Amino acid sequence: MKIIKSKHKLQNEILNIKNISFIPTMGGLHKGHISLIKKSKNLKGKTLVSIFVNPKQFNNKNDFLKYPRNLKKDLIILKRLNVDYIYLPNFKDIYSFRVKNKIFLDKFSKKLCGKSRKGHFKGVLNIVNRFLLLIKPKYILLGVKDFQQSYLITKHILKRKINTKVINCKTIREKNGVAYSTRNKNLTNNQFKVASKVIKYLRNNKKLIRKDLTNFKSTRIKKDLKNFGVTKIDYIELYNSKSLKRPKNKKENFRIFIAFYLNKTRLIDNI
Ligand code: PAF
Repeated sequence: MKIIKSKHKLQNEILNIKNISFIPTMGGLHKGHISLIKKSKNLKGKTLVSIFVNPKQFNNKNDFLKYPRNLKKDLIILKRLNVDYIYLPNFKDIYSFRVKNKIFLDKFSKKLCGKSRKGHFKGVLNIVNRFLLLIKPKYILLGVKDFQQSYLITKHILKRKINTKVINCKTIREKNGVAYSTRNKNLTNNQFKVASKVIKYLRNNKKLIRKDLTNFKSTRIKKDLKNFGVTKIDYIELYNSKSLKRPKNKKENFRIFIAFYLNKTRLIDNI
């Protein structure tokens, strides 16, 4: 496992490697990340994991400061998984070069988290674009828990004709249904239980929602979730996961997208 802290060293190291699978992370590694890394290992090429808590994608300074970090533990996990390269840039290293292609923000960036987290996706695409320019990976592996992020990165890659294929990986969940997320580390035991109730509730109600799609209103759901102990709900919305239109037909594949707060911790999921 090679730990690399500068883009020049990184580029020297991987110059002639054509089959890199890249997993961008902000650290605080959990089973979701581990499943991406294992998938990447099956692709046979080299695996490169980046860890960088990107300040530009946080719309709230406190959220950035409170974001769980544990580099020591992360490196133990990565070593155990036999990852080939770890890129650990600092702010200057990753932001102090000119990029030749502008980021492309698809209009879906204005929905869901785009409404409640101003500038978030611009920040995500800015850093991912930089990583892609430096690393030129064959694959980038992303989790569909962050469905909107993965969708927007895919659109950017296609629009800018970047030679990297996106591999979407399924959401990994705790036994109680809660999706693995670095932010879960900020939850109290009780909040973790409330998060589980939210997910189970949405799963159980999906059938009912499907029966009456055209009359879908989130008001009742929001009230029920608040009764469980949810502090605030940014959105609960339905989208067809392919067309990104509102589902109308009972047979459509749709997802319930949610962003909610447990005290100051904001969680997102799609079911
Ligand atoms: O999903 C994340 O952890 C981040 O948004 C990413 C893709 C590493 C960009 O900073």
